[in-house]
Amino acid sequence: MIDERERVEYVRVPVRHAAPTFAQDVLTGLTGKQKSLRALYFYDDVGSALFDAITKLDAYYLTRAETEILRESSWEIVRALDSPPEFFELGSGSAEKTRLLIDDAIRAHGSLRYSPVDISASALHGSAKRLTASFPDLRIRAYEGDYFDVLASPQLQFDGRVLAMFMGSNIGNLDPQETSTLLMALGRALRPGDGLLLGADLKKDRAILERAYDDPAGVTAAFDKNLLVRINREFDGDFDLADFRHVAEYDERRGVVESYLEALRPVYVRLAALDTTIHFAREERIHTESSYKYDIEQLHRLGVECGFVPQREWFDRGHRFTVTLLVRA
Ligand code: AVJ
Repeated sequence: MIDERERVEYVRVPVRHAAPTFAQDVLTGLTGKQKSLRALYFYDDVGSALFDAITKLDAYYLTRAETEILRESSWEIVRALDSPPEFFELGSGSAEKTRLLIDDAIRAHGSLRYSPVDISASALHGSAKRLTASFPDLRIRAYEGDYFDVLASPQLQFDGRVLAMFMGSNIGNLDPQETSTLLMALGRALRPGDGLLLGADLKKDRAILERAYDDPAGVTAAFDKNLLVRINREFDGDFDLADFRHVAEYDERRGVVESYLEALRPVYVRLAALDTTIHFAREERIHTESSYKYDIEQLHRLGVECGFVPQREWFDRGHRFTVTLLVRA
């Protein structure tokens, strides 16, 4: 048992580059030719609760498939590297699924250091509290900040072997260029022999994918439209949710589900706090999210291009999702 006071450490990593504010992003995103909003703005309190609801939907199989893999294989996963690693997780969120790995790592090696990275301070505090309550032999070093800022920060410290994790198909929100940039930055932060565990959704039938991103109960539509609710609240806007519908389309050639909010009729929206009026033509769309799908060959190729060697992969019984282990060369 490790002394309580020494178990949790918070590191706040300052932004290096001047990141655009929500107001700037809304202005540029809604006044350009192809209207778009960045997926990171989904996650206010209501959006985070709606995402939690999505993970429990029958149509949204991703979370269940990844959980199945971790339940079946966490023991193999935590023992796959040559020495006991500390965990370093990008975008840890509530860290519910990570518990399965943490539990087996402590069983296998006696104790563990877990270093989650998240932009949400409240997510970090909540998960650190719950995890230390459940695992007396766990130490936490939580980094609050943007992935790239944390990876380049002198505050980032590893003692020994590291198992980095990027789970939950979070890689899916990054386009190919951003994905390579992130894996290269991870490669620079890791040492040879360290691992990178990727949780990625696999390419599959269009109908299954489009249903996962436009569920019959309309929870995903509400999640998408919550962006407009948030804009109304923060910028004194008058978006009428009934003027828009949620659309999810699988682009098979690029292997990506694209989500949009589409205007059902011509509308003008006033954003008083930004002193702006935005016009939508009938059927004009706001692009709100990309969710990239992978196959194993593609994940391996990506890893190799970024300085990793594919070591092993695991699948759920339905072969819908993969957890893949790459090792830093
Ligand atoms: C949290 C990015 C993995 O793209 O599958 C779920 C978010 N959007 N339903 C995904 C999401 C609509 C999700 N990720």
